[in-house]
Amino acid sequence: MSGVSHAQHLNEIEVQMYWVSSSVTHLVSENNSGDEVQTWLDHQTARDVSSSEHLLDITWFTESMEARQPVPVEERHRLKVAPKQNVNVNTIQMKSYACQRRTPLKHHNSHLTEALEVLSENAAYGENEGRSVAFRRAASVLKALPYRVQTMDELKCLPCLGDHSQRVIKEILEDGTSREVESMRQSEQFQAMKALTGIFGVGVRTADRWFREGLRSPSDLIRTGQQLNREQQAGVLYYDELNKPVTKHEADLIGDIVKEAVSAVLPGAEIQLMGGFRRGKELGHDVDFLITHPEEGKEEELMPKIISWLEERDLLLYQKTTRNSYLEKKDAPGRPPNNMDRFERCFSIFKLQGHAETTGSDGVRPSNQSEASYWRAVRVDLVVSPYSQFAFATLGWTGSKLFERDLRRWAGQEKHMSLSSHALYDSVQRCYVRAQSEEEIFEYLGLEFIPPCERNA
Ligand code: UTP
Ligand code: MN
Repeated sequence: MSGVSHAQHLNEIEVQMYWVSSSVTHLVSENNSGDEVQTWLDHQTARDVSSSEHLLDITWFTESMEARQPVPVEERHRLKVAPKQNVNVNTIQMKSYACQRRTPLKHHNSHLTEALEVLSENAAYGENEGRSVAFRRAASVLKALPYRVQTMDELKCLPCLGDHSQRVIKEILEDGTSREVESMRQSEQFQAMKALTGIFGVGVRTADRWFREGLRSPSDLIRTGQQLNREQQAGVLYYDELNKPVTKHEADLIGDIVKEAVSAVLPGAEIQLMGGFRRGKELGHDVDFLITHPEEGKEEELMPKIISWLEERDLLLYQKTTRNSYLEKKDAPGRPPNNMDRFERCFSIFKLQGHAETTGSDGVRPSNQSEASYWRAVRVDLVVSPYSQFAFATLGWTGSKLFERDLRRWAGQEKHMSLSSHALYDSVQRCYVRAQSEEEIFEYLGLEFIPPCERNA
């Protein structure tokens, strides 16, 4: 019988098989109320059940079987569905820590979150971190919503939305755009700060000082002969390419190179792609790798060997390695001054040899490079972790930054624990908690496990 979907126990796979087809006309269920079926349907896709589809009780199906053809639908066959109030608004229970929520990469509210992220960025340029995080949190809550916000009413029960964020959201819902955000985006200061902090090795403070001296762009730095450190020189030299998004394909090509380097200098070592790409992003600003070896201690002083291997093959344009400075304190973890971790780490710029696919996002090759010698510059972070800390390092380097921030805040405020990319310390029991996997860490923290692709807070 074509066009009939039988959802005995609302088995997802069973129903979705039929659901792919738009020709479904009758949906039959056994032992479920109409509301249950409707709720299940609402959770499937954003798809509404069209009025031509019948939600029916199993009796219609059995009668049709007996009649050897679909019998006419009568009122008694129909499942009763309560009139739709704003189901979403009333059923959504939004948790307030980002690490308690599932935040997919693709969401329904980018028209709102992009505006809030401009406000966040602008606050960061003004060195107002609290404000910057507040706007980022507001954006993050909207990213976790399973529907597109239409009215202010729908925001009533959501956490983390301050007055300012709400004002901006209201403006966008009513007028399609926020004048405050648009004029901020267009402002000379915002654009200059974006351009200057977009230079590898330049932070907000330096950029702000340059802005107040009248400088607006990397070319202004060159023109006025500014004193630059080695990192910033590389940043200016490769500015355009480093500001071109890195594709997943390029990340994989670099992954292959790093794998080759690592296994040449330390057989048995393991390497893992981290950061945004681990969360399923297709584009990134850099590529992050975590390296370890199952035999604790073998990983020591590994980085210089990897770097030499890469340099011998002319694969690096810049690198700066910092040594591992992590020391586990017996009593309690010392809090690193800036929350940075202390792994052996290399900030580098790779020289990625060209493939047709590695041309810029505009598809154009720089004109001074022939096809054979084409390469592009890509920011790469390499991190080496001892095996015993690998689960913590994996969790810490997967991101997103807000997800990490809230994991640590949750640990401290709700669990009296201190979480870093190295360890988890229980301040009540006064001991370190060991873990072999991310799953175990979530469990110790009393959190439901959130897979990387849903940590895009
Ligand atoms: P990134 O800055 O690379 O961000 O940090 P990302 O999520 O990969 O996004 P894009 O695409 O590159 O812009 C990756 C993760 O590594 C952690 C951050 O907290 C983030 O979660 N990280 C980064 C550290 O733990 N320490 C650092 O010094 C830098
Ligand atoms: Mn990254």
